[in-house]
Amino acid sequence: MGKRIPWSRAEKIRVENLLNDGYSYSAAAKIINYEFHDDDEIRKYHGVRGQARFNHINVNPDRYAKVKVTKNQVPEFTRQEIPAELQPVEDLIAERIRKYEIKSAHKSIDCVDVKINLDGPIGVAHFGDPHVDDDGTDLSHLFHCVDIIKNTPGMLAGNVGDVQNNWIGRLQRLYGEQSTSAQESWQITSHFVKMVPWLYLIAGNHDCWSGAGDPLEWICGQGQYTKHGSRMQLKFPNKRTVTINARHQWSGNSQWNTAHAIAKAAQMGWDDHVLVGGHTHVSGYQVIRNPKSSRISHCLQVASFKIHDRYAEEKGLQDKNIFNCPVTIIDPDASSEKNLVHVIFDPEEAADYLTWKRQKAGCD
Ligand SMILES: [Fe+2]
Repeated sequence: MGKRIPWSRAEKIRVENLLNDGYSYSAAAKIINYEFHDDDEIRKYHGVRGQARFNHINVNPDRYAKVKVTKNQVPEFTRQEIPAELQPVEDLIAERIRKYEIKSAHKSIDCVDVKINLDGPIGVAHFGDPHVDDDGTDLSHLFHCVDIIKNTPGMLAGNVGDVQNNWIGRLQRLYGEQSTSAQESWQITSHFVKMVPWLYLIAGNHDCWSGAGDPLEWICGQGQYTKHGSRMQLKFPNKRTVTINARHQWSGNSQWNTAHAIAKAAQMGWDDHVLVGGHTHVSGYQVIRNPKSSRISHCLQVASFKIHDRYAEEKGLQDKNIFNCPVTIIDPDASSEKNLVHVIFDPEEAADYLTWKRQKAGCD
């Protein structure tokens, strides 16, 4: 390494003037070398930059040398001004602040209020991953469940996601393994989601593959169709409240307990009456009591309507599909917490039970 040559006072003043005049670090170094060091390469980019930082010199961000002036003190040339492609930075910042406010207002609703205007017990049928376009999906059972909801007073519905396969990217090859075309998939999907007014309708990972321009968002309406999950507080006419926390996927896994991820969430802070999820295409159910709040949480892992699953066959996954449309019967007049929510795995049985409960309560 060569001997370090200290900056002289004259050099420091000169480099400050050069930088203030808009010369780049490299250009200033060249001039200093020319004027003070017989054009030897003594001063370099980093040395000049160090001087600028050490002496707090405001460096002109424009690294191009300024246009020289003629003897008449006018620029040697002028270029036509081209209108900027981007908006002024002040406008951009104001716009970004507005965007953040809109996003924050949206995110601030961590629990959606749902006012129930029905007296007496209600039922909420939780549809597991429908995958309506898959050849292995039991569509007749799916639409039978829809009919039950439509024809049963007090029965509402939610969907935990993956309405269709929606193959994208490399997975588009899988359209070759199903007889439903992409167009037909959207035809059935659009028809299905319009059949009932959804208490919640969640976008699963397959739905989210549509990206920012997800057609379901425009078919169902923003706010109605939510990505990944939705938490709701049902407010009954008698002032009782029941919370439902629905997500496509809950974090965690256990080979011994199919409802582990959801039960874990209930035990780690989500103090809700009903926690429900899909994604894994298996069923599971666990009941948790919160010792502090005395809340009883019903944790439901819902299987899929895709009964014959190529992926499960390929991986040798066991069939653990017990139910794919369980119903939570909620009785706001229940005398105790343990009778507030009942889970029935079969929507047909649930419809009978709900009808009986509502008649007994004098509602229908
Ligand atoms: Fe799925």
